[in-house]
Amino acid sequence: MLFQTPTAPEWEPLLIAAWRAREHAHAPYSRFRVGAALQWAGGDISPGCNVENASYPLCLCAERTALCAAVAQGMAPGQAQALVVVTQAESLTPPCGACRQALSEFAEDLPVLLANRTERSLHLLGDLLPLAFTGRNLCKDSAIHP
Ligand code: THU
Repeated sequence: MLFQTPTAPEWEPLLIAAWRAREHAHAPYSRFRVGAALQWAGGDISPGCNVENASYPLCLCAERTALCAAVAQGMAPGQAQALVVVTQAESLTPPCGACRQALSEFAEDLPVLLANRTERSLHLLGDLLPLAFTGRNLCKDSAIHP
């Protein structure tokens, strides 16, 4: 099985893609640059970085820009295989709640590697977002009887 340990070699291309994407982060307001890379079926890698805006609520996280790039490139639910998030922060940067929810639409058991220049930690999306709200919760009955 791939992506089972934080030092498995298959993380390397994803880490390279995430660090490279981080170079393109547009973060003039927070100065907190984040890179991400999502691997999906077939070996494709979709990079992402945070994209901030003077209208602060419009800021996009690196994880969601990677996700949207992957979807635009053809990734469908069930095809996401692994995600990397990199920053230079001393403590590793976990995905925010909104990103956990957005990612869970596409893969509930996604391995998520957090990394900085010296440390790594590996998590499963399902552990980061237990009891996620999913399409399964949108059954007809609950829509008719809220
Ligand atoms: N940010 C990410 O891109 N990913 C995370 O996991 C945490 C936060 C961004 C959003 C914003 O541009 C900046 O980091 C500070 O919150």
